[in-house]
Amino acid sequence: MNIFAIETSCDETSAAIVLNGTKIKSIIVSSQIKIHAKFSGIVPELASRSHIENINLVIHKALKAAGVNFLNFRQHVDAVAYTVGPGLLGALLVGATAARSIACVYKKPVIPVNHLEGHIYSAFIENEFIKPPFLSVVISGGHTAIIIVKDFGKYKVLGNTRDDAAGEAFDKAAKMLGLRYPGGPVIDKKANKGDSNAIRFPRPYMKGTWDFSFSGLKTSLLNYLRKNPINSKKHLNDICASFRQAVVETLCFKSFEAAKKFNLQQIVLGGGVSANSLVRKMFLQNGQKNNIKVFIPSSIYCTDNAAMIACTAYLKQKKCGLEYKQSDLKSSACLKLINWN
Ligand SMILES: Nc1ncnc2c1ncn2[C@@H]1O[C@H](COP(=O)(O)OP(=O)(O)OP(=O)(O)O)[C@@H](O)[C@H]1O
Ligand SMILES: [Mg+2]
Repeated sequence: MNIFAIETSCDETSAAIVLNGTKIKSIIVSSQIKIHAKFSGIVPELASRSHIENINLVIHKALKAAGVNFLNFRQHVDAVAYTVGPGLLGALLVGATAARSIACVYKKPVIPVNHLEGHIYSAFIENEFIKPPFLSVVISGGHTAIIIVKDFGKYKVLGNTRDDAAGEAFDKAAKMLGLRYPGGPVIDKKANKGDSNAIRFPRPYMKGTWDFSFSGLKTSLLNYLRKNPINSKKHLNDICASFRQAVVETLCFKSFEAAKKFNLQQIVLGGGVSANSLVRKMFLQNGQKNNIKVFIPSSIYCTDNAAMIACTAYLKQKKCGLEYKQSDLKSSACLKLINWN
């Protein structure tokens, strides 16, 4: 089954055509980073406007790269998927409108996809043999969640973030350090040149709960900077390395504790922060040590992209079919993770 998918939940306009959830025929991601970097964060109004400006070109590029056009679309595409939430409402509506209009004109079924599920299943694109149950660790700009995936579409959310998401913590830390947006990749790069033992930031393990909280860690960085203004490139690299170490150790420790406690043999990562080089290293090392298989998507599938939406849509239609209620198709900024029927 060929699924044409559109993702516009935040600041990436993306379209893709994917065969049977795993064979990428095309993937186009157009990032708005340059627009939002000036403001050190996403400006929702600008995000919606930029999606409108980009969406047609992104769709055309994705179709062209897969050898599809609007004359042969009906032959080559079996269903159209789109991100229905959570995300910025104005941004979501652009993708929903485009996807549903195309589906209507070409008489194709539409599959609404929860963005969080896109991150949960993004590792499947390259590892189609993964079978539930597994522990999903979603670490992104808006989420830090550990979820038991008992079966496709059957979830038990163990923990969420109580304040800042992991990606948000990196973005805000970067702002304090005078680094550009998004902070995650910049801090990662500088951290690779620094000493992670230089400063001992707290590890917010939040014992007794599977929830996360990174706001205290952020405050401790702020307090440190007040007392110790950045005085050299080396100092900046050391701060980045020490901060990254605290975030990643916390994520890794809690994830493996949860996997062990619930007897899960597989951990599957997703979301932009899984692109972090220390996350990848530490999770893989701990996986080997604890005999737990760890799956991490390639970087392009960690951050927002339409291929993960197509992959999830494929898994979803296998279980739920191709007919969805109007209420399932409604874009929702704060859509929760809901079990598939
Ligand atoms: N190498 C990296 N190290 C750490 N963080 C990273 C890295 N690359 C990207 N990120 C972070 O990932 C986040 C973006 O990821 P993603 O696109 O999955 O989030 P989002 O879509 O904005 O949020 P959500 O998926 O929760 O709605 C940003 O906060 C960014 O700083
Ligand atoms: Mg995302």
